[in-house]
Amino acid sequence: MSRLLVCPPEYFQIDYEINPWMRRTNAVVASRAFSQWQGLMRVLEQDVGAGIERMPPVEGLPDLVFTANAGVVVGRRALVSRFRYPERQREEVYFEQWFRGQGYEVLTLEKTHYFEGAGDLLGFPDTWFGGYRQRTDIRSFPTLSELFQREIIPLELIDGRFYHLDTCFCPLSGGELLYFPAAFDSYGLAAISERIPAERRIAVPEEEAIRFACNAVCVGKHVVIPAGCPRTMQSLQDRGYRTYAVELDEFMKSGGAAKCLTLALD
Ligand code: ARG
Repeated sequence: MSRLLVCPPEYFQIDYEINPWMRRTNAVVASRAFSQWQGLMRVLEQDVGAGIERMPPVEGLPDLVFTANAGVVVGRRALVSRFRYPERQREEVYFEQWFRGQGYEVLTLEKTHYFEGAGDLLGFPDTWFGGYRQRTDIRSFPTLSELFQREIIPLELIDGRFYHLDTCFCPLSGGELLYFPAAFDSYGLAAISERIPAERRIAVPEEEAIRFACNAVCVGKHVVIPAGCPRTMQSLQDRGYRTYAVELDEFMKSGGAAKCLTLALD
């Protein structure tokens, strides 16, 4: 069974602005955030059959809900993130605490090397892709590659709206890739094309990319995707995936959606 780490949105809010989606004036409606998050949990547990691990929310840490950024987990080892912005650096100790409490061997990077976890590191079983520049530092990848014995292809993120790799790049279980090409430079696009043949690449249209179409959770043949992305859902269905649309606009106010709210634990 696929296990996912999540954190309830008790203290979720827009208290600062660290990406172009966040506006302090665009306050989160707590009751809506809560029901949307519960809706996502219901789909993940009941329809997809994922195992959900909940970590306790912490007052004053509004973005702790985005557990994709906790770190990266492989087997019994967990590498904890080092956030770029001080506002989120305060989350590191809670994520670390959770990993230790669950008995993971906790690994860390050098202080000066930023790395925002599974938000910026995604891939297929043996090839990983790392998004950098907006949040993660490219200098983190050689260490990660060494630690986990995986090749990591660096992809520069050139559009501020797509500041984490998981906002514009979503590997699927069948080897296909859902992505928004304009978020990458020509070098990155060439690297993607070299690894993933054209028939496996699914380009998302811009109007759905900004509805976070790529911020989807794929578990086996199930894909949980933010509502408002009908064309992407159709492309996925054409390839044999079962899709589930989930309303998540309260989280989009913070620049996140389905995938950001989960961290794969295996
Ligand atoms: N407000 C959060 C931030 O800017 C959103 C994080 C979304 N996480 C993700 N994996 N894309 O850091």
